[in-house]
Amino acid sequence: MNDGDIRRVPAALAAILEDTGRLGFTMASEPKTGSLLRSFAAAKPGGRFLELGTGTGVGTAWLLDGMDATSRLDSVDNESKVQDVARHHLGRDPRVTFHCTDGAAFLARQPSRQFDLVYADAWPGKFDHLGPALDLVAPGGIYFIDDLLPQPNWPEGHAPKVEALVRDLDNRKEFAATRLAWASGLMILVRVS
Ligand SMILES: C[S@@+](CC[C@H](N)C(=O)[O-])C[C@H]1O[C@@H](n2cnc3c(N)ncnc32)[C@H](O)[C@@H]1O
Repeated sequence: MNDGDIRRVPAALAAILEDTGRLGFTMASEPKTGSLLRSFAAAKPGGRFLELGTGTGVGTAWLLDGMDATSRLDSVDNESKVQDVARHHLGRDPRVTFHCTDGAAFLARQPSRQFDLVYADAWPGKFDHLGPALDLVAPGGIYFIDDLLPQPNWPEGHAPKVEALVRDLDNRKEFAATRLAWASGLMILVRVS
């Protein structure tokens, strides 16, 4: 099996990737991660999903591709220049709401346990404000992060922060955690209590 042979990609993906390249945005999710996001979304009919860090909308497109008609997605980024690419290609889909705001401020406004999936792909909700992000995950819901294997764009001193985050997540008794050395390095937590 070639696990990189990912078929049936979202319709908007090619155009989003073209604009992503034109902008020089290098932090977009890779196809394996996107494919897994789509499967998570498909597993939660009528689900409520949160993406922290829209970027140009690559992960957003994969999530929308797995969501049914009654599911809803909130996607948050504080950079309008990159998020505008996502708005342009995906903004007509009534299932998604884009929020151009600071991730930490957004987290502070949300009631607990309301999301079936939190894809924490920005600093807030991952390396800071982790507790508030985990608090939003509903019972049986998923907290998902990527970029846990060394990446060429990691700044000096980032590796110990990643190690500490993985250890912290593993120790959270209210979640069942799985580390996956696949794609950019993933961690999947499911709320068990
Ligand atoms: C790794 S990229 C997101 C990639 C996207 N999820 C995807 O699937 O392609 C991280 C994003 O987080 C955004 N970001 C950084 N700091 C933020 C903050 N404090 N609040 C909200 N978004 C932030 C950046 O502008 C960037 O677009």
